[in-house]
Formats: sequence, structure tokens, C-alpha cells
Amino acid sequence: MSLASLRLFTAFLSLLPTLVFASKEPTQAIGVQMERIQESEKFSTRMELRSYNSTQPVASMPTTSKKRRSNWRIPPKLNAKVSRHTINEQKVFITDKETGGELVSRWMVNLQKRRTTTGEGTTFGLATGSSPVLVYENLVKAYNNGDFTTENLNTINLDEYANLEAGHKETYKQFMKKNLFDDIKLPESQFHIFGSNPHSNDEEDEEIQRINELLKTYPRHLQLLGIGPNGHIGFNEPGKTLTVDTGARVVKLAIATCEANSRFFDNDINAVPTHARTLGIADILAADSIVILAWGEAKARAIQKAITGPVDSLLPASFLQRHKNVAWVIDKEAASILFGKGMRITRSMARMNLYLQKQIPQANQ
Ligand code: F6R
Repeated sequence: MSLASLRLFTAFLSLLPTLVFASKEPTQAIGVQMERIQESEKFSTRMELRSYNSTQPVASMPTTSKKRRSNWRIPPKLNAKVSRHTINEQKVFITDKETGGELVSRWMVNLQKRRTTTGEGTTFGLATGSSPVLVYENLVKAYNNGDFTTENLNTINLDEYANLEAGHKETYKQFMKKNLFDDIKLPESQFHIFGSNPHSNDEEDEEIQRINELLKTYPRHLQLLGIGPNGHIGFNEPGKTLTVDTGARVVKLAIATCEANSRFFDNDINAVPTHARTLGIADILAADSIVILAWGEAKARAIQKAITGPVDSLLPASFLQRHKNVAWVIDKEAASILFGKGMRITRSMARMNLYLQKQIPQANQ
């Protein structure tokens, strides 16, 4: 058998389980998948076809020491509940929200432990919103078990509303205190977050300056992110002026974001602050490693574009393609466009997907 026909036969074999498991009419499911892939202008010979059961280290998280260590390991207890894929050099872990919360908290705890043994401090970049809540819950459990310590720990939050009275229960500072800081008794001197209510432009500038200095003092070893349904990360909203170099600043929130966040303000969109301060794309990309979480179908389109589409200022999360150490931790619903709705996300399915995507010649090649 020639090499070409052997490849064809292997591809056919990897397709078979998907044809069986796809809940849609199989040829339609594959057609849809092909269409989606062609939609993305940039497709990639960088795509890796690698078994997720591979024993090779999947990715290494840079640390300040020269030695890079594999980080994105799935603990044996969670292994059966997580499927792992590599797309455009980004790790994509599909699991349920509860397992995802446990998995990510373990990565954080382990990272901190490793650094502590060599006497190094750790800084986490943190996000608010519903996506990281279970990560924080698990960090609190780890703290209570004595597995996680606040010694030499600093945190810097991504963003904060810019026109909410300090102390308002929906400020991100209050959110962080309620969901994490109070329970792990993190002293105020160790968590850093924009003030929520500057009274003048000067105060506004000083606040941005203050956070910029902190970013230099405390380089982040891991940045946690959520993603908005419009693809925002932090409060970097879609917009033509957004670039890979955009830094921390005050922004006007997109209508889509105000709508999404109105659930925290008694569903009253008029009560949602109109502006916020946020770290920029450049600040996010400066972290050693990035973990981005998403649950639910509302994020599915943005995720598919962010991972497989071109880098596009109208889809801010696509800038993550410019980072070498990104792990997406998402549920099946959030992956439903990336991997095809109604499909069981299995190893063979992922292989088929990657195989098909490899067949699309990349633009400019
Ligand atoms: C929050 C933040 C936002 C959220 C995003 C998703 O600090 O920066 O980008 O991560 O809006 O929000 P949830 O998790 O509530 O769906």
C-alpha cells in the first residue's frame, strides 16, 4: 500500500467513530464542519495532530527559573472527565464546570507550591464574573486543607468598573473579597485591583499608572480569564483600534457587555456602569501563562473564532493566538461550534477535525 493510500485509509478509520456518534446526519455534520473551517481564513499547518493520551508533556509553563516544566497535566482522578486537544498551538480542555474548577485550581496550587519550594513568590492575574467562581471555591478548599498558602502570594485583577461607589456590592473588589480573598485571608497589601470610583481625570491617570507599576513589580505567572459572548477579554471590547500593544486604560463598555452584566444589577441595563478600567491586550499577553474559562453555548461562536479564526481586533480573544502558553478550559456547550454541535467530543473526533483542518491550505502560503 502506498503512503498516500495508507494516510487516506487512516483518515477514513478516524472518521468512522464520528460518523457513528454524530447525532446529526453524518455527512451534514462533516459538511458543517468543513464550512466552519473554511470560514476561518487562517488555518494552520501549526495545527498539531497529537493524541491526547500522549505521555509527552503537553505544554510547559514558563517560570522565572530557566527550567521550563510541564504544567497542563490532568491529575489521574480527573483524567477520565477531561478531553484534551491542541488547536493552533493552544491547549483546549473540554470538561464540565465542576471538574474545570478543580483542574484549574490544582494548576494554580501546584504552580505556587513549585515556586515556594525554590523560595520564589507567585503572582496570579485574576478575573471576576461567573466563569472563575468554582476555581476560587476550590482554592478556598485547598487553603482550608493547608494545601494552598497566601505566603508570598500577590494577585492583580484584570479590571474594575470605573463609576461605581467604592463598597458597592458589585464592584469587582467586593466580588473578589466575597469569593476568595476573605476566605483565604489575603491581606489588602497582597491583592491589587483598580479603584472603582476616581473623581477626576488626574485620579484616573494615577490609577492606571499605579497598576502599570504593580505589573512591573509583580510579573504574573498565571493569568485567569473569562470571555464575553462578544469575544472580549478583560474589558477589551471589540473595536478597530485594539491591537496587540494596547495597554491598561479606561474603556466604554459595549452594549453586549452591559446586557450580559445586567444580570448582576437586577436585570436593569441602566444600572450597569458604562465605563471600566482594564488591563490591555499587551498586559494580558505579558503573563507567563494564560488559562481562559468558558461555560455555556453563549460563548461558543466567540471561542471558535478566537481559536481558529484570524487574529482580529473585532474578536479580542483571538489575540491569545499570539501567546505561547494558553489553555482553554471549556465545557461541551462552549465547544459546540469548535467541535460541532451534538457531537461527542472524543479523541477520534478531535483527530478527524484536525485532519480535515490540515487539508485547508493556509492563506499566504
Ligand atoms: C471579568 C472580565 C470579563 C469576564 C467576561 C465573562 O473580570 O474581565 O472579561 O471574564 O465578561 O464573564 P462571565 O464569566 O460572567 O461570563
